[in-house]
Amino acid sequence: MTLQMDDYIATRADVRAYLDRALSDAESASNQEAELYEEVKHKLLASGARLVAHYYVDPELQRLAEETGGIVSDSLEMARFGASDPASKLIVAGVSFMGETAKILSPEKRIFMPTLEATCSLDLGCPEEAFNAFCDAHPDRTVVVYANTSAAVKARADWVVTSSIAVDVVDALAARGESLIWAPDRYLGRYVQKQTNADMLLWDSACVVHEEFRLHDLDALMSMHPGAGLLVHPESPDEMIERADAVGSTSQLIEAAVRLPNSTFIVATDKGIFYKMQQQVPDKLLLEAPTRGAGGTCQSCAHCPWMAMNRLSGINRVLDSWDPACEVLVDPELGQKAMRPLMRMLEFKASLSV
Ligand code: 13P
Ligand code: SF4
Repeated sequence: MTLQMDDYIATRADVRAYLDRALSDAESASNQEAELYEEVKHKLLASGARLVAHYYVDPELQRLAEETGGIVSDSLEMARFGASDPASKLIVAGVSFMGETAKILSPEKRIFMPTLEATCSLDLGCPEEAFNAFCDAHPDRTVVVYANTSAAVKARADWVVTSSIAVDVVDALAARGESLIWAPDRYLGRYVQKQTNADMLLWDSACVVHEEFRLHDLDALMSMHPGAGLLVHPESPDEMIERADAVGSTSQLIEAAVRLPNSTFIVATDKGIFYKMQQQVPDKLLLEAPTRGAGGTCQSCAHCPWMAMNRLSGINRVLDSWDPACEVLVDPELGQKAMRPLMRMLEFKASLSV
C-alpha cells in the first residue's frame, strides 16, 4: 500500500499529537514526582523519624536522607548511625539485612522499610539450616559472617563484618592464631584471605550484581580512556579485583575517587553510588564498568534489583500509616544472640578510631 499525500499529512499530525501528549505526560509526571518529594520531605521532618539510606538506592531517596538529617552511607555506617541516633523511629532504605541489623542493635526502636520484600542474593544463598550444619562440621573454627545475612545466621556467628572492616577483623583473628569459617560471599572471602593469609573455609555464594562485572570489554573501555582508574567493590570477581586501583566498601570507593589523582574512573559497583561519588568529585568523569561483555545477558545491569524496590511512594506509605506490613521485627531471643557478634564489630571499629 502506498501512502497518499493526505494520509501522510494525517500521519504526521498523529505523530505530532502523540509526541505532544507524551511530552506533556512526562512533564506532569515529573511535576507530580516533585510534589510527592516535597510532601514526603515535609512529613518526614514532622515525624521525627530518621531516614537511613544506602548508596545504592535511587538518588532521590539519598537526597531525601541528606535533606532531613538522616544518613547516606555504606552498611557499616548505616549500622553505627542507627544505633547511635536518638530518633525512636528509623526508616531504612536498603535491603532486609540492613533493616534487621538496625532492629537487632536497637530493639527498643521501631524500624520501618519502604518494603520488606527487598532481600539480597547473599542472604538468600546462605540458609540457616545449611549454614548451621557447615558450622557444626567445623566446631574448632571461629565463625565470621558478612553483614549481608539473616538474623539467624548472624546469631550463629562469632563475628559479623562488613566489607569496610573485613580485612582488619580477619587480620586480627589470624594474628591470634584462629582458623575461620567465612560466609557467604566467595569473592570477598578470597580477597580477604589473600590480604591476610588467614586460614579460612569459604561458603560458596555471590552477589548477583557484582558477579556480572567481567574483564571482557574492560580493556576496550580502558583504551578509550587511557589513564582511567579502576574502582572495584570486593564482591566482584577476582579478575576485576586484581586489576583494580582501589578495592573497598562503597564509602572506601568514594574516598578513593577523591584521593587518587586520576581524572576518570571506571567504577565496578552498583550505579546508585554515582550520586554521592559525583558530588565528591564534580570535575572527574565516572564511567560504569562493563557487565558480562558483548553478547552476554546482563542480569543486573549494575543495579541491585532489591535496592531498586525502595521507592518514594513506599516511604510515603510508611509515614502515612506506620503500616505494620513495613515494620521490621526480629524475635527478641534471636536478636540478642545476633547482637553479640554485631557489637563486637562496632567495638572493633571504635578501637580502630582511637
Ligand atoms: P557496603 O558495605 O560496601 O556498603 O556494601 C553493601 C552491599 O550490599 C554491597 O553490595
Ligand atoms: Fe546483596 Fe548484591 Fe544487592 Fe548488595 S548489591 S544488597 S550484595 S544483591
